[in-house]
Amino acid sequence: MEPDSTQEDWQVACDADEFEGEELLECHSGGQQILLVRTEVGVVACPAICPHMEERLAHGIVDGNVLTCSKHLWQWNLLSGEPVGLAEMPLQVAPVRLEAGKYVVNVQKLKRFGDSSCS
Ligand code: FES
Repeated sequence: MEPDSTQEDWQVACDADEFEGEELLECHSGGQQILLVRTEVGVVACPAICPHMEERLAHGIVDGNVLTCSKHLWQWNLLSGEPVGLAEMPLQVAPVRLEAGKYVVNVQKLKRFGDSSCS
């Protein structure tokens, strides 16, 4: 566990079986819709909705460690959340662990920066 997180910060997202063979999966975890994303180095989580407008990021494309939103092609580095190319704001990214056959997300990391949506 990270030094600044508590057990309550980590919430179940889904059974590992549900995400097997998938790159993107929307889940409900910790009272919010999130997206699990499989990167080259492991699974991370981010909000289900693009921070630009109201597009579902599950419609996007994952290439290595980069997620591309399908609507206006904003891109982010999934390891840092930093914008790539056209993107004008970062994406919240949270760590994910596999525990007892379930993916568990540090949902506090997705709330800590607030709602960064813009119009
Ligand atoms: S809605 Fe995602 S890039 Fe515009």
